Amino acid sequence: MVELAVVIGAGGGLGGALLATLEAGGTYGRVIGLRRSGTPPLDLLNEASIAAAAAWVAGAGDLRLLLDATGFLHDGRYQPERSLRSIDPAHMAHAFAINAIGPALLMKHFCPLLPRRGRAVFATLSARVGSIGDNRLGGWHSYRAAKAALNQLVRTAAVELRRANPDSICVALHPGTVATPLSAPFSKSGLDVRPPEEAARDLVAVLNGLQASDSGSFFDQAGAAIPW
Ligand SMILES: NC(=O)c1ccc[n+]([C@@H]2O[C@H](COP(=O)([O-])OP(=O)(O)OC[C@H]3O[C@@H](n4cnc5c(N)ncnc54)[C@H](OP(=O)(O)O)[C@@H]3O)[C@@H](O)[C@H]2O)c1
Repeated sequence: MVELAVVIGAGGGLGGALLATLEAGGTYGRVIGLRRSGTPPLDLLNEASIAAAAAWVAGAGDLRLLLDATGFLHDGRYQPERSLRSIDPAHMAHAFAINAIGPALLMKHFCPLLPRRGRAVFATLSARVGSIGDNRLGGWHSYRAAKAALNQLVRTAAVELRRANPDSICVALHPGTVATPLSAPFSKSGLDVRPPEEAARDLVAVLNGLQASDSGSFFDQAGAAIPW
């Protein structure tokens, strides 16, 4: 069976660049990008669409890498909070639905497809601002809290995956500050904002270098561990 890499959120700034980088790398026999507007469509807010996409992937080959590049920081309705005063339950629920519950559903439906023998990776793009230990600036309550929840889900899934396959790897990755629609309103000049292609090359290098002993960890784009 052909070895598969699947990128979820392949229409996003980082997702598109990661798809292209994996295709060019030649490590996997086939690289598949899934997105809301693709075939099959995958919408994190619709569990049935995730289940259907996973069933489709199961028939396409041997899943060796599932890379989740979805995420939500702002849209026309919601902007990241600057203070406690701005907390809005609907905003917070949406941030959790996309950044934590959606990836948990990806784990639920795609992790059973990972082989029981040999290297098999589930990786999700988190964010350094989700680190509790690294939080010195405050603000962005919903995004930070949802990414911290995602990090805990990664750690918890890693324990379970290791029982099924000691060679499995489940990690959270921080891509750096990258020029995409998600970061555009917040990337001040002076910050090290990098093109998605460059960030994708670094992230794929980090992924390629991961060992089973790295499972359950949180790494930045240079492969350095980030505190939870
Ligand atoms: N850019 C940065 O500086 C930066 C920094 C730290 C962490 N990150 C993280 O990196 C990841 C990718 O972000 P990005 O910068 O590439 O942002 P982006 O260009 O805005 O991409 C976001 C992606 O999320 C997908 N998405 C949103 N809602 C969805 C839903 N309901 N169902 C399925 N997919 C959905 C979008 O899919 P559609 O294509 O269907 O809209 C898109 O592919 C995110 O997790 C983000 O938190 C980014």
